[in-house]
Amino acid sequence: MNTALASSSIVGVVGSGAMGSGIAQVAAAAGHPVRLYDTRPEAVEKAIAGIRKTFGMLAEKGRMTAEAADAAGQRLSVADSLAGFADAGLVIEAIVENLDVKRRLFADLEGIVGDDCILATNTSSISVTALAANLRLSGRFAGMHFFNPVPLMALVEVISGLATDPQVAQTIYATASAWGKSPVYARSTPGFIVNRVARPYYAEALRLLNEQAGEPATIDAILREAGGFRMGPFELMDLIGHDVNFAVTQSVFQAYFNDPRFTPSLVQQELVNGGFLGRKSGRGFYRYGDDSTPPAPHTEAQADAPQQVTVKSSGLVAEAIASRAASAGVAVTRVLGSQEDDALLKCGGAVLYLTDGRSATQRAADNGLANTVLLDLALDYTKATRAALCPADQCTPEAYRAVVGLLQVCGFKVSRLGDVPGMAVMRTVAMLANEAADAVNQGVCDAAAADTAMLKGVNYPRGPLAWADTIGLHYLMRVLGNLGRSYGEDRYRISPLILRKVWNGSTFHG
Ligand code: NAI
Repeated sequence: MNTALASSSIVGVVGSGAMGSGIAQVAAAAGHPVRLYDTRPEAVEKAIAGIRKTFGMLAEKGRMTAEAADAAGQRLSVADSLAGFADAGLVIEAIVENLDVKRRLFADLEGIVGDDCILATNTSSISVTALAANLRLSGRFAGMHFFNPVPLMALVEVISGLATDPQVAQTIYATASAWGKSPVYARSTPGFIVNRVARPYYAEALRLLNEQAGEPATIDAILREAGGFRMGPFELMDLIGHDVNFAVTQSVFQAYFNDPRFTPSLVQQELVNGGFLGRKSGRGFYRYGDDSTPPAPHTEAQADAPQQVTVKSSGLVAEAIASRAASAGVAVTRVLGSQEDDALLKCGGAVLYLTDGRSATQRAADNGLANTVLLDLALDYTKATRAALCPADQCTPEAYRAVVGLLQVCGFKVSRLGDVPGMAVMRTVAMLANEAADAVNQGVCDAAAADTAMLKGVNYPRGPLAWADTIGLHYLMRVLGNLGRSYGEDRYRISPLILRKVWNGSTFHG
């Protein structure tokens, strides 16, 4: 039975910066007396004043009663030294990201708190096992990894190191739930869940740029308006800061002993070397400032709408386009059982396929069909506002324009991508799912936790493993296999768990 810490139990927070003050706010709102300590006393004063102001604003907006806001504010107090945590039930550390400094802190805390006090770290990148190594009671130690900004982001990764007592992890999990969060269990491994599984979101975009598949604004628009992601990868990296994002990628790469899955990008290294750190330095992939206008994504000029389209598949993708085309007055003919290798539809002499990880040019050559056009993955083809296309080198401009016209009359803005294997959304989602599958395969977390982590920690529009189920694991295997053959890189090796599920006919969320 998972029992949360009693709300009367004192919560200590060490470090009153961005994360510590957010954690203190959430714990106080949930009813705990909260004590904050920081080596800079002014940071604690500032944090408490800031949290009380936030409670006041929440009361003004009617999200809390004035009494509740006042009471929550009163539950916050200053600890002048670590001795102020002597009677705490839980102490959460959110100080500088340094193994030795954190170890020293926990060693000091063990000399002060009672034996039943749980000690937790908010570290993003340091091994929970390593942090606990020299503790007298290492079983009481676990990771409680919040996301920034803490009051708004629901995810808490509850991280068990080798020594963590399962009961302690369960108490932290139940406590995070009681605080209104969505906790997930994870085993202490580099990047835990989110910072590991999210790497391809940045890495594949950087590779697409490096291979000149499109400009950042175009790839961002495709990931947002077709993929359904809240922010495109380039605008997101600019927001995070390239120094921070590059450092996380490097640390995960090194922590996995240079696994090519996590190879950092020369494109991003150049930005860091040049001081183009993103929003905070005024320039990253984009320029920021009053006089800068954001670049527009590449969008195809209006093409003539075709009168007729022949739909060759009864799958969800073809059905969605057929229904949008029919609503726009295009005559839809259905000819199933096509000879042309699972084509979606035929229009004006061109054949449209969903990308399967081969380039358009290769697919045209493999099929002996010059007028081949590929379509990228979308989250929901019935609602997407943008579609990415790529014609084979062999395709005639007229045939390509017929497909552009068809998708435009269906209500899509159309972006043309350079002919890279797997296009943008398919390649990104395939690699996110592959990484999530490997995390599950290696016992870091279960499939539900992997999806919850990406939904609640980085606001993905769908969990990567649920998305893998939607694409179909057989199709996902084909995409990853083709990516691997296209590049000859171990980076695209298929997770054994995806292969196993293809062979045993199961899904991630069966
Ligand atoms: P921050 O720099 O805003 O705050 C850290 C605070 O800790 C400062 O006020 C500093 O004076 C204090 N401090 C440093 N050493 C101390 C010590 N030995 N004893 C007491 N106080 C000390 O940093 P932030 O962003 O709040 O991060 C804190 C921790 O949370 C780090 O471990 C970081 O990896 C982790 N984290 C950060 C996230 C983020 O997005 N910023 C997300 C998730 C985790």
